[in-house]
Amino acid sequence: LTEGPLSGRHIVVTSGPTHEPIDPVRYIANRSSGAQGTALACALRDLGAQITFVTGPASVPPPAGVKVVRVETARQMQTAVQEALPADAAVCAAAVADWHVLNAGQQKMKKDGTGRAPALEFGENPDILAQVSQMPEGRPALVVGFAAETEKVMEHATVKRARKGCDWIVANDVSPATGIMGGSENAVTIIDAQGPETWPRLAKEEVARRLAQRIASALTTKE
Ligand code: C5P
Repeated sequence: LTEGPLSGRHIVVTSGPTHEPIDPVRYIANRSSGAQGTALACALRDLGAQITFVTGPASVPPPAGVKVVRVETARQMQTAVQEALPADAAVCAAAVADWHVLNAGQQKMKKDGTGRAPALEFGENPDILAQVSQMPEGRPALVVGFAAETEKVMEHATVKRARKGCDWIVANDVSPATGIMGGSENAVTIIDAQGPETWPRLAKEEVARRLAQRIASALTTKE
């Protein structure tokens, strides 16, 4: 482990999408490369933190030098996060599917020749960020969530922070015109109890480094 301001701290990072099976060969997912979560885990590791990196099926490889827990579904991600706790901080950067398919097929679903498509039924997934934020006991000192929005970014992110009960929300605009989704840059606003702080458009690695520094300062001043 690197020596740094986060030495001796354990941080759980969720990253990537989740996949919710429709049948053994098909799934529903959110768009997420895992790039920002991975960059953040690297930056926190470089400041000395011990990282548990809980990742869905991402398109970028997980960081070296961290404990990697691979999951597929939101429910598996929730279990993995619970098992990884306690932690000094939790950073939920995963793009978790809000629903899973209740009537997923045990076998590959087939066209039945009538021209009718199957009807999928959905059940709500656990909200991992909300659960960790609202733990009655053993809550991490700092819980950070992300809010990827396509409109009214600040408004939605501010409501989300209050509803989930996390300390910070890192809000960003992922509408197609920004090129942020799947791209190499990000433009974020951090909302905490003091209000919003908007950063310029930066490489995802630089956003990660600045966030890691901010997390380190917050954990140091919280004691
Ligand atoms: O509600 P929404 O998905 O927009 O909130 C985004 C934030 O909540 C992200 O930090 C994401 O990782 C987290 N989240 C979660 N579990 C869910 C849904 C979202 O941890 N089921």
